Amino acid sequence: MKVLVIGGGGREHALVWAIARSPRVQEVVCAPGNGGIAALARCVPVNQKDLDDLVRVAAAEQPDLTIVGPEVPLSLGLVDELTRRGMRVFGPTQRAAMLETSKVFAKEFMQRHHLPTAGYAICQSAQELPGALAHFHAPIVVKADGLAAGKGVVICESKQKAEKVAKQMLTGELLGEAQHRVILEEFLAGEEISWLVLADGTHVLPLVAAQDHKRIGEGDTGLNTGGMGAYSTDTLLAPEMRDWLVHHIAQPAIDGMAAEGTPFLGVLYCGLMMTARGPMLLEFNTRFGDPETEAILPRLQDGALLEAMEAAVDGRLDQVGLLWRSEPAVTVIAASRGYPGSVQTGHEITGLDLAAQETGVTIFHAGTALSDDKVVTSGGRVLAVTAVAETLQSACDHAYTALGKIHFDGMYYRRDIAHRALKKGKEKE
Ligand code: AMP
Ligand code: GLY
Repeated sequence: MKVLVIGGGGREHALVWAIARSPRVQEVVCAPGNGGIAALARCVPVNQKDLDDLVRVAAAEQPDLTIVGPEVPLSLGLVDELTRRGMRVFGPTQRAAMLETSKVFAKEFMQRHHLPTAGYAICQSAQELPGALAHFHAPIVVKADGLAAGKGVVICESKQKAEKVAKQMLTGELLGEAQHRVILEEFLAGEEISWLVLADGTHVLPLVAAQDHKRIGEGDTGLNTGGMGAYSTDTLLAPEMRDWLVHHIAQPAIDGMAAEGTPFLGVLYCGLMMTARGPMLLEFNTRFGDPETEAILPRLQDGALLEAMEAAVDGRLDQVGLLWRSEPAVTVIAASRGYPGSVQTGHEITGLDLAAQETGVTIFHAGTALSDDKVVTSGGRVLAVTAVAETLQSACDHAYTALGKIHFDGMYYRRDIAHRALKKGKEKE
């Protein structure tokens, strides 16, 4: 069978890697792919922000299954267009993807279906802000309605700051594009986990949980990024808690989407805060997380991902199970100097082959390209170095040993990925 994967980051490298391990797959095509994906798939250029171009690639390739990685093609309605042409696609429709593309839609949906989430107010104008803010205690979280590539959430230590930030979002001063609506939200304290489930419109099948590290600096300091590393261990989520989440969050969400006439097929990423009051939804994403996917998929039995995705497309997800390795996985992102701001690209990356020989290590490429047979940097996040090992500490050790063998000009990575879990583990000893 021939599979087309849309996207070109570390997440898509992990997806292509997992798909290519299935004996049923003859060919994987990735659009646009990257320098690492090119070793596993035929990469074809595409403008991911252009629906016509995306459809053109799919129509030309005629894959047996298309998997959409990033949110932008989903928001453009790629799944709708390909489905209309009779193609099999794993991913939500444009309407179903509103759980990610509109935070206002998502919040109102959570409220309609009694999903646990922080208290909130929606404001459409600066005049409404003082009245709405009166109901909140600082700190206050201010969120833009639309997709903002990780820049649409600001935690404000005072009401004055919240009012200022909300105004700047409404005028467009903060994000470039003026927001019609902003959300004011109660601040939740606790540990954050990324919990992803596959859905076929009716049934849900959970993946193992992961934890992301969003800040650029060690100790979770500095600017927000697309994610600087992740880990996945069974200790993140007890089986009883996972069952609770299925019954109180994932299944009601999928039932709610079906009842509203927008059945959800694809990956529903539940961003959760484990608070003293219980788990609360921070957000939905309607796709695999990045870099969580690079830590989750290496724990999955070979071939299982494709089988589950096909079952999802056929509406029979209740008939498949997923087998996971009990060993933890750690993914560390190597970024370019300056990330998450502007970066220089085109620097040669060396040591990749040597690093890949480290026990349990898989190197996923996030922002790389091939230039005269050399692998060069092509973005802010460059590599996602994953290690699977007997213990979380040894997984970290292997990932960092591998990273020590890799070089490119301006290479930066956090040295404390998985610090929370490692600290907890030490406390238990
Ligand atoms: P999002 O863009 O929705 O993923 O939010 C970015 C980050 O902001 C989340 O990963 C959380 O760390 C933080 N965040 C969002 N909402 C809240 C909240 N209500 N309370 C505390 N932190 C939040
Ligand atoms: N790692 C966060 C995200 O994929 O949105």
